[in-house]
Amino acid sequence: MRDKIVAGNWKMNKTLPESKALIKDIKNAIKNEELQNIRVIVAPTFVNLRSAVKKAKKSVVEIAAQNMHQADSGAYTGEISAEMLKSIGVKIVILGHSERREYFGETDSLLSKKVDQALNSKLEVIFCFGEVLEDRKSENHFKIVESQLKNGLFHLREKDWKHIILAYEPVWAIGTGETASPEQAQEMHKLIRKLIAENYNQSIANDVSILYGGSVKPTNAKEIFSKEDVDGGLIGGAALKADDFVALIQAIK
Ligand code: PGA
Repeated sequence: MRDKIVAGNWKMNKTLPESKALIKDIKNAIKNEELQNIRVIVAPTFVNLRSAVKKAKKSVVEIAAQNMHQADSGAYTGEISAEMLKSIGVKIVILGHSERREYFGETDSLLSKKVDQALNSKLEVIFCFGEVLEDRKSENHFKIVESQLKNGLFHLREKDWKHIILAYEPVWAIGTGETASPEQAQEMHKLIRKLIAENYNQSIANDVSILYGGSVKPTNAKEIFSKEDVDGGLIGGAALKADDFVALIQAIK
């Protein structure tokens, strides 16, 4: 059975003390919860990852990085390698977030290299993709998502898929307050699973967790998470307050 996942992407938010406090609050709020098959992941900024790993120890909270470089090491000023993340106890990395694609020029072909590098270093990958508003308006959204998956992930071997979490995030719904309807999310997630079944097999398609991202909040989470092919959420804004984030974890139970 595939995992349900609530993952918080903190983006460029939270100083070190704020980051520590938020992890502590989340930990305390969920310590007595039954979370069978439910994973809770948070992704603080690079400089706070080491402390986050320590703070989350002995709790169910897992720590992810928001990005990494595709090379092993070398003259790449300002960049962070997969091995660096591993060496401080980070086991998961978010790749291909739409903000990385849009503001930092990350392309499908670059992302496929990053995915390979992460998997080579035994990191689990949360791979993000999704269409922009114009694609949806012109009804190209299915084609765009298919090409993002094909170019970013469909070179992987069957066994690699155990280490992949997908996050469908329609760009028009990120940070805008506008959410895809539960039906729109389900429709896309179902297509994604079908594409994986066609390119690999049904068992891989059934086992991969597909998260929805884009203005998920306590008021809309239950309905979105209740859809058959939606296995949780990648959360931005609502992950920055412990109460909201914990409400999302409760919404998936
Ligand atoms: P949002 O961000 O929840 O603030 O829309 C989602 C994301 O960027 O992953």
